[in-house]
Amino acid sequence: MIPVNEPVLGDREIDYATECIRSGWISSAGRFIEEFEQQWAAYCGMKHGIAVSNGTAALQTAVASLGLKPGYQVIMPTFTIISCALAVIYNGGIPVLVDSDPRTWCMDVSMIEEKITDQTRAIMPVHIYGHPVDMDPLQELADCHRLSIIEDAAEAHGAEYLSNRDKNTSRWLRCGGMGHLSCFSFYANKLITTGEGGMVLTNDPALAEKARSTRNLCFRQEKRFYHTELGSNFRLTNLQAALGLAQMERIDKIVEKKRWIGKAYTERLQNIPGVQLPVEEPWARQVYWMFGVVLDRSTGKDAIEFANQLKAKGVETRPFFLGMHEQPVFHKMGLFRDENHPVAERIARQGLYLPSGLTLTESQLEQVTEAVREVLL
Ligand SMILES: Cc1ncc(COP(=O)(O)O)c(C=O)c1O
Repeated sequence: MIPVNEPVLGDREIDYATECIRSGWISSAGRFIEEFEQQWAAYCGMKHGIAVSNGTAALQTAVASLGLKPGYQVIMPTFTIISCALAVIYNGGIPVLVDSDPRTWCMDVSMIEEKITDQTRAIMPVHIYGHPVDMDPLQELADCHRLSIIEDAAEAHGAEYLSNRDKNTSRWLRCGGMGHLSCFSFYANKLITTGEGGMVLTNDPALAEKARSTRNLCFRQEKRFYHTELGSNFRLTNLQAALGLAQMERIDKIVEKKRWIGKAYTERLQNIPGVQLPVEEPWARQVYWMFGVVLDRSTGKDAIEFANQLKAKGVETRPFFLGMHEQPVFHKMGLFRDENHPVAERIARQGLYLPSGLTLTESQLEQVTEAVREVLL
């Protein structure tokens, strides 16, 4: 079976992890945490990094650090992981959903404005499967309505967006470097992994301080075990940060390999009728975190049947997200009950992603594309 993903861990990871074990710095203090925070923040073009235990915790920490009054609203895509909605709900807010752009599968930015109310406090763009959200118009809206932007860049390490906002000069900006706060996951299937792990980035020192405090139970520096706010234990360990730092040394090669996979699949699959492949908009450098394909209904297949047929040929796949507005847990809470988001509904049923891991060889990629052809042609 060709796996959807496998992490690549090398000698550098072993060296750094060994250093942690030999020195005894295995918990949430130690040199690797700060170095990883600083290097990741710098790579993304942000000033402060706050390493946390996973991407879900990063989103919760980011939302918490805004310190919003209960009942506020955050606009986000319906087509995303549940972590985005949970981060808002656990912090006393209400997610407000928009549908996906049919080309990029990211939130359709043209639908945001009509969702803004006097309770809206933030927008949470999610760079889906490695392709950036169209950030210029989103930032325009956020500025105009004084909304915070919490970027979810969990799937878009190293992806870039061509911004034209600064006095007509175009600039490539890294995903995770454009929001007031941004969030990453370092789960094993991500471009950089620490096993489990995440990070919040920001340029704002006050938000950084709040996020650091939230991550560590809101201990007060001047008076230990005395708390004036609610926090969480979302600390990352030095051992995990050691892995992250080791991988950062190879980030350019990692991004290059992902982009090679994306282009190689595109070349081989682009002429199959009824199959939509990932795009790369002119303003985007995407990283093909996972190579998604969406079947047209004219193929007579949905993603479940397609996945079963590929599995029979030794190709592992994963289904696309199911939109937040279709989640029973939220319906039980009275949320999103009568909502329809046709693009998200269609791609959830017709989409899956193919093996896209860093260990994927050219011959495996050929096998996958051959299997796709046999099933669809
Ligand atoms: C877009 C997005 N945000 C957040 C997360 C949550 O990250 P984690 O699994 O590390 O909690 C994920 C997980 O893969 C994700 O894909």
